[in-house]
Amino acid sequence: MTARAGLWLQQGAAPQDAAWDVPPRAEEDRVPLFVVESGCGYRARGWCRQGTSSLQGDAVTGRLEGKVAIVTGGASGMGLGTVERFLAEGARVVVGDLNAAKGEELTAACAARGQADRVRFTRTDVSLEEDVAALVSLAVEAFGGLDVMFNNAGIGGAFGPITELDADAWDETFDIDVRSVFLGIKHAARVMLEAGQGGSIINTASVAGLTSGAGPTAYGAAKSAVASLSQAAALELAPHRIRVNAICPGVIYTPLMHQGDEAAADEWVSALQPWPERGEPAHIAGAALWLASDDSTFVTGQNIVVDGGLLAAGPRVTQFSHMFKDLNKLVGFAYGTTGQKPRFRRL
Ligand SMILES: NC(=O)c1ccc[n+]([C@@H]2O[C@H](COP(=O)([O-])OP(=O)(O)OC[C@H]3O[C@@H](n4cnc5c(N)ncnc54)[C@H](O)[C@@H]3O)[C@@H](O)[C@H]2O)c1
Repeated sequence: MTARAGLWLQQGAAPQDAAWDVPPRAEEDRVPLFVVESGCGYRARGWCRQGTSSLQGDAVTGRLEGKVAIVTGGASGMGLGTVERFLAEGARVVVGDLNAAKGEELTAACAARGQADRVRFTRTDVSLEEDVAALVSLAVEAFGGLDVMFNNAGIGGAFGPITELDADAWDETFDIDVRSVFLGIKHAARVMLEAGQGGSIINTASVAGLTSGAGPTAYGAAKSAVASLSQAAALELAPHRIRVNAICPGVIYTPLMHQGDEAAADEWVSALQPWPERGEPAHIAGAALWLASDDSTFVTGQNIVVDGGLLAAGPRVTQFSHMFKDLNKLVGFAYGTTGQKPRFRRL
């Protein structure tokens, strides 16, 4: 592993780099982290290389160096953003996606960045057990093991009134959005158990799985199942130090979400989401990085909401229903359906 930090021990005027393996090339590369005076003439100064300190916001820190990760649905959207972030943080990454053309674009872009030896792509249908098993085997064959499994691929699936929904479309939604996650956990955990080194499994659920009204019925039910499955798997695998968590994104601007019309999306998103900036794949990649890294080693069985406050804002009935639209202009008391008239006064 490459050290990206170092230490000077200084006595009097002549600073010397202590024997950390890669001292920075130039003084201006060094970002000071701390200075400690011993009181007996020695001074210790910590540095990190420019752009590598976790104290510097989004800076690259090498937090996944030495780790092998699989990302499903990694050819687009938040999966693609996560692949790029994992590679930047030093991981070796195997991408499984149904879209082979986009997968090839991804590997070409990685090669152009000099990352060809750290990435593999294989066309995968995550709803098929043989494909998921082959994806996991590829990680072991190509990179020698598996530390992180990100079960992220998914679709919107069946939509329409529940009385009209086709049962096959319902099943297909569950195959792609839930069965896939079960298969990913099953095959990743087998390899992780055999290696005995623990691991981190991350699943993509959704705020639509935590509340109704945030997505089609079948989709919401499927994402609820992902959230529940993540917790159940976390319990079973915790004794083996295999963590299982789910990320529940809010509205994230990906092709799946805006379907090519970002301006139309802006209108309704800005009315619903408290946070001013829109959700980007990088926001999910940041959460996935944390869950994949050793910074979250005591975190398991969690459904982590990454949504710019969307869920915290609640169903927003008070904002959008005609019944409540003037509520902030009145103060009073409503007796429901008791027959008693409400009492109120205007503000
Ligand atoms: N974008 C959002 O607002 C949002 C919100 C909550 C949850 N999600 C979830 O996030 C995940 C990623 O979605 P995204 O928005 O990045 O979408 P996206 O369409 O940009 O990317 C999804 C990727 O998954 C792949 N995929 C779909 N079905 C597959 C299958 N059967 N096998 C293998 N790969 C398959 C697609 O080819 C695509 O590359 C999904 O699980 C989605 O349900 C998205």
